[in-house]
Amino acid sequence: MAGNRTFTMIKPDAFEAGNSGAILKMIEEAGFKIVAMKATRLTPELAGKFYEVHKERPFYKDLCAYMSSGPIIAAILEKDNAVEDFRKLIGATNPEQAAEGTIRKIFAKSIEANAVHGSDSDENAAIEGNFYFSQLERVL
Ligand code: CMP
Repeated sequence: MAGNRTFTMIKPDAFEAGNSGAILKMIEEAGFKIVAMKATRLTPELAGKFYEVHKERPFYKDLCAYMSSGPIIAAILEKDNAVEDFRKLIGATNPEQAAEGTIRKIFAKSIEANAVHGSDSDENAAIEGNFYFSQLERVL
């Protein structure tokens, strides 16, 4: 059965552009409940840890530099079928391939600076949520 939680980050490009509010509005209007949220900033080392699965990819080093280049918002979201529905809402990784009306189509600047992250599985949603939020911050 599909889980009911996913994890997202509003990435440095979208935060810096002042698009966090508009993105959170789209997320809530799509039926997701915010159950934990914070504004924070990654160090390059922490970005490297978060994206460790990509460490052999050619874009890994740039990705770590980019993800630590400014503040982000991290959030745990709740909805039935959360992982799949959220990936539909954000659209393809490459904004040029993202469907019309998706968050990345509207706000992303490039395949790297693509406005938001969304977990790709229930297992990773739990791992990623735990990366950012302690047990005390996950009370909802
Ligand atoms: P995200 O969904 O957070 O997962 C991995 C991130 O790596 C991705 O979004 C992009 O920010 C980045 N990324 C993925 N593919 C590429 C690529 N081909 N070139 C540059 N960055 C990429």
